[in-house]
Amino acid sequence: MTASKIAVIGGSGIYEIDGLEDAVWTEVETPWGAPSDAILTGRLGGVEMAFLPRHGRGHVHAPADVPYRANIDALKRIGCSDVISVSACGSFREEMAPGDFVIVDQFIDRTIAREKSFFGSGCVGHVSIAEPTCARLGDACEAAARDAGIRLHRGGTYLAMEGPQFSTLAESRMYREAWGADVIGMTNMPEAKLAREAELCYASVAMITDYDSWHPEHGEVDVSEIIRILTGNADKGREMVRGLPGLLGGERAACGHGCDRALEHAILTRPEA
Ligand code: ADE
Repeated sequence: MTASKIAVIGGSGIYEIDGLEDAVWTEVETPWGAPSDAILTGRLGGVEMAFLPRHGRGHVHAPADVPYRANIDALKRIGCSDVISVSACGSFREEMAPGDFVIVDQFIDRTIAREKSFFGSGCVGHVSIAEPTCARLGDACEAAARDAGIRLHRGGTYLAMEGPQFSTLAESRMYREAWGADVIGMTNMPEAKLAREAELCYASVAMITDYDSWHPEHGEVDVSEIIRILTGNADKGREMVRGLPGLLGGERAACGHGCDRALEHAILTRPEA
């Protein structure tokens, strides 16, 4: 068993976590530049926690401009083992209604203009992301959300779009009907891929704000409506986070899903090359 630290990456509407003891904002440098913001660290129920606001306090980074590599690298550098992403998403399913949370377990990556890997020329690596999320973390998020009385759906495919515009009606219908996506957002890719390359356990909780544009009774996405739902979701999201340390504890055995050993058979370049 080794000591562990739980990281939360907060999306739109979540810019801090409540109740942290000895909370301090720390600037972290990385070879990939500065993260979205300083990282808030402290302890919840005796467990080490770290919080990074994905868009920065004041919401200054658009989805395509979030420094994803610096964010994941910074969390790894300060000793995080588990990364829990919480983000606002649209829904493609009637039953996944605004205000509900979805524990995402698959992704379709439609982002096109982002740095997606720590590897490249000089060091070539290909990690598997067939199962891009960690079920142990998903279990904890599910239990924490249920304890907080949040309406929750376990399992869902997240369509990551480039943005910043929302989808056209044709795209929305295609993602839902032909591609089988359940939720849509602009930030979990390349975040999930980078977390796997960094050998961090990663879970994603989608907080539903809207029905995107496919729903005949809801019309197109309306930012003022999203913000209204977002505020309630953010309160629920912070409540869920408060339950996580008690469920995950402060020590880790090797990950049962192998997230922490993802590079074992992934690097092609010889060390001496
Ligand atoms: N974030 C919240 N709602 C969204 C939507 N409909 N599409 C993409 N990102 C979103």
